[in-house]
Amino acid sequence: MTPSRDGIAEANAAALAAMRHAYPLYSHFRVGAALRAKDGTLVAGCNVENAAFPSGTCAERGALAAAVAKGHRKFDLLVVATDAGEPTPPCGMCRQAVMEFSPKLRVIAVTTGGKRSEWVLTDLLPQPFTPASLSST
Ligand code: THU
Repeated sequence: MTPSRDGIAEANAAALAAMRHAYPLYSHFRVGAALRAKDGTLVAGCNVENAAFPSGTCAERGALAAAVAKGHRKFDLLVVATDAGEPTPPCGMCRQAVMEFSPKLRVIAVTTGGKRSEWVLTDLLPQPFTPASLSST
């Protein structure tokens, strides 16, 4: 792929590729996510469900855990890919999880049908619980 100027095409491709590895045995809802670290590294994740339903994990938190394990802690872009009819933003738990690291994160949701929506994380989670909240007692 010819590199795109803003790198969005590469992040979309990484999220879509991860989506194809999703394990959505129970919901049949495939999700892929790609987080871009400040140095440009893309780290992807997919949803991994489980017969014990609450043990399943979302694509975004899978990507976050993998990225942190590689030493990344600051991110500028999250792409969420699905084959839903409309782009889907991250769930509440995933919003909280990434907020910890990058409040101003740019969040893009894409579909395999070519639809796209975009937000800033602070708009998706306007009153977050943050590390500072712990010391405000
Ligand atoms: N899911 C994600 O991976 N990310 C989200 O932000 C929303 C939901 C997954 C969890 C579950 O495997 C499936 O989608 C249906 O909820």
